[in-house]
Amino acid sequence: MTVAGAPSKVTTATLRQMKARRERITALTAYDHLFAALLDEAGVDVLLVGDSVATVVQGRDTTVPVTMDQMVYHTEMVARAARRALVVGDLPFLSYQVGAEDALRNAGRLLKEGLAEAVKLEGGVEFAPTVQRLVAAGIPVMGHLGLTPQSIHQFGSYRARGTDDAEQRRILDDAKALAEAGAFAIVLEKVPAALAQRVTASIAVPTIGIGAGPHTDGQILVTHDLLGLFTRFRPRFVRRYKQLGAEIGEAVRAYCRDVQGGAFPAADESY
Ligand code: KIV
Repeated sequence: MTVAGAPSKVTTATLRQMKARRERITALTAYDHLFAALLDEAGVDVLLVGDSVATVVQGRDTTVPVTMDQMVYHTEMVARAARRALVVGDLPFLSYQVGAEDALRNAGRLLKEGLAEAVKLEGGVEFAPTVQRLVAAGIPVMGHLGLTPQSIHQFGSYRARGTDDAEQRRILDDAKALAEAGAFAIVLEKVPAALAQRVTASIAVPTIGIGAGPHTDGQILVTHDLLGLFTRFRPRFVRRYKQLGAEIGEAVRAYCRDVQGGAFPAADESY
């Protein structure tokens, strides 16, 4: 049954159809109800409750420390706001690497408690059996290849991936393995545009790029980057559509001036 006036819900099938029709998919991160409602209302197809919440919201240096409970907490706030967008909850570090049964329990929490409609995990062929296990249990899985921030301590830097032949072959093989295991989409992060184009042409499921050039089936950015709210560092692939961080600073300075000078509150702001 569809509710009159409600926008039609984006599903994993919608994304597959969009790839087939060559319609570009839009995706953004969301961590709370207010932002999720604004993004959903604006027509974004996918809301990812990314583990980037660790760096963007919690002020951590990496995504490694964010916990399963915290991801459930943020996902539930976002999911209740999303009337149209597909809500994907990120599986945090060590919530799926230990084993497929552990992954199933944690992914299940993101759906049951967090009300997500899908989960995302980082990694390739080594996680194909896990993806299969989750999909068999009815949990849609989005893959994540290229730069995988949860492995920062193994790589030691956030440099681009797929920059030599061996890495390119591995990313291509990983993408095929994830697609065969049943992943419904794959994020490609910080890889050369030509490689992303090759991967996109080689698999039937949509690719969502971040720093992966213009040839992927869709694009994702961290919302706080796009709005100029998160300014601690700026990867080259970020386009800032607004400078809200600077605007907030101006607004708060004006408020402080008004309070200190006695201009706030005025008579019509008082009872
Ligand atoms: O956690 C996140 O925000 C992500 C996106 C950058 C793809 O994984």
